[in-house]
Amino acid sequence: MAKPVKKEIEELRERIRYHEHRYYVLSDPEISDPEFDELMRKLQELEKRNPELVTPDSPTQRVGGAATDEFPKVRHRLPMLSLDNTFSMEDLKEFDRRVRELSGRPRVEYVGELKLDGLSMALIYEKGKLVRGVTRGDGTTGEDVTANVKTIRTVPLSVSPNRLEKLGRPESFEVRGEVIMPQKAFLQLNREREAAGQPKFANPRNSAAGTMRLLDPKTVAERKLDMFHYYLLVDEERRPQAHWETLDLLAGMGFKVNPHRRLCPTLDDLIGFINEWETRRSDLDYEIDGIVIKVNDTRLWATLGSTAKSPRWAIAFKYPARQATTVVLNIRAQVGRTGILTPVADLDPVDVGGVTVSHATLHNMDEIERLNVRIGDSVLIQRAGEVIPQVVKVVKHAPEARSFEMPGVCPACGGSVLRAEGEVAWRCVNAACPAQLKEALLHFAGRRAMNIDGMGEALADQLVDQGLVKDAADLYSLSEEQLTALERMGAKSAANIMEEIQGSKAADLPRVLFALGIPFVGERTAQLLAEHFHSLDRLAGAGQEELENVFEIGTKTAQGIVKFFSLERNRKVVEKLRAAGLDFGRASAKPAVAQTLSGKLFVLTGTLAGYSRDDVRKMIEDAGGRVTGSVSKKTDYVVVGEEPGSKLEKARALGVKAIDEGELLKMMGKT
Ligand code: IVH
Repeated sequence: MAKPVKKEIEELRERIRYHEHRYYVLSDPEISDPEFDELMRKLQELEKRNPELVTPDSPTQRVGGAATDEFPKVRHRLPMLSLDNTFSMEDLKEFDRRVRELSGRPRVEYVGELKLDGLSMALIYEKGKLVRGVTRGDGTTGEDVTANVKTIRTVPLSVSPNRLEKLGRPESFEVRGEVIMPQKAFLQLNREREAAGQPKFANPRNSAAGTMRLLDPKTVAERKLDMFHYYLLVDEERRPQAHWETLDLLAGMGFKVNPHRRLCPTLDDLIGFINEWETRRSDLDYEIDGIVIKVNDTRLWATLGSTAKSPRWAIAFKYPARQATTVVLNIRAQVGRTGILTPVADLDPVDVGGVTVSHATLHNMDEIERLNVRIGDSVLIQRAGEVIPQVVKVVKHAPEARSFEMPGVCPACGGSVLRAEGEVAWRCVNAACPAQLKEALLHFAGRRAMNIDGMGEALADQLVDQGLVKDAADLYSLSEEQLTALERMGAKSAANIMEEIQGSKAADLPRVLFALGIPFVGERTAQLLAEHFHSLDRLAGAGQEELENVFEIGTKTAQGIVKFFSLERNRKVVEKLRAAGLDFGRASAKPAVAQTLSGKLFVLTGTLAGYSRDDVRKMIEDAGGRVTGSVSKKTDYVVVGEEPGSKLEKARALGVKAIDEGELLKMMGKT
């Protein structure tokens, strides 16, 4: 007999929760994205047919909450304190001295954690289920943002009673942590906002905080927030005796805990940790603004107590902001891929935390007004993560300062400039504007799109200025002679670029979709669309409603896609790309050949014995690999034939593995 539906649904949910945890929390998935989507689809289907069985903690309910028009206020069970800040090692020594004095211990052990730059959040679980997510607010009362918090994939919607029992934990508890927006999501969001003519967010923290206050959870879900958990609120007698254990316990309960933490038996260890992360912070995909130091022995927490604002058992060591003062030499409008004119400040070059900065973005006219910045002013600038340096404020107005005005015509093409109703941004409306085309080409050829190595600004400028390329598809009809005739282009570089361009045709559907530059379609959205539609034609033919029904695709993205494919000029480009032989996917799924070389990058050198170069290229591509023209650090293998050229030497110098034809065939399972 078939399983009762209720049981089937519950089992499916358990499986989905397990895989969500592996994917989002542990970053170690066991199944492919399509397989995961299939489980989700099945569950949605079953729940649709049995609506009485839908529960608030079902994985389908992450975006199930309805939009609200305001957030109810909730009082915290215990106040959400903030931390005292220190900026120097002296202050830190003083903190340690006070802790030892108050606790009467000669030595105290500390835990060092990253100070995540986001917004703090309290998660309340009852009977193992997430019932409320509350912002910090004023520390005593916060806002109930449950529907929004539920969209964060690393926040468990429930913790199984079995697991809690095994860990000896009560079924009701509160977990606190930090909601952050990863750098990548932040940059993508700002690109999309720019394309839509909306004001950009100044930094990931503002962006995360702004997102949490959105009224529609569906938009929140698109913003890819993340959460790290660092605090478990329990009665004193049930609290683990060491904070370090609490962190492990949280991880054991299924919460995402930041892996970069250290148990520091001495103050010197702590100083080592602080110094280490001051350099390493730029490697992280999210921003930190310091290190949080906590007394490890939680039994001392009560002894040490708190002031009205912050506990005495913890302190934040803040890294100095990467800021500097310089002079604005000029302000000019720069035209982006979507035609938006962004005011950019040219600066007197200045060192900011080890990087020379000579430009800063001013975002838009509203920002210029807010800052009241003029040409000639002295300004404070700051650099955060990968973000383009920003102007924080004017330090001194120059008496002879000159105001910037948005040019009445596009600085690149002389075409008209318009500011649409309700938009802050000015746009060049000329679709053939060379500045837009250059940016579009760079995006198309970018590493995460078609990955055409060597297609940089200098080349894009020449190709567009000489009229050789009028859209991205024209790249595929360039001849080697045309390239060789360009300035600063030797025969060899021309040949390499030709090979790169041809090689890029093997890029898979997600890359092609991303490369097209469809409004709001970033890398991850392109991936989702490819997995759902399997072919560009099916995507192009999809209507607004069908698109919105795709998991994680919101109204704006759906509109962007429909509009993109409705424009004659875009359809022409798509047809040219099809004629060039790009991978538009198949309506039927899986490739016929085993993908043994999936994602691997090859370079061929010398004469191959058994097959022609083109045959070898095709075989590699069929097995999921890619062939490019020149050896770089990204190359996985150089396939060496008779009389290899300089590529082999370069491979050796870079430590890239060299293999012969026989080994290649073996890898593809052909011998
Ligand atoms: S513990 C009572 N740990 O920093 C102790 N806070 O300036 C509560 N923060 O409000 C905080 N990373 O939003 C703690 N690893 C971390 C943190 C962290 C970021 C934030 C938190 C807090 C603020 C204090």
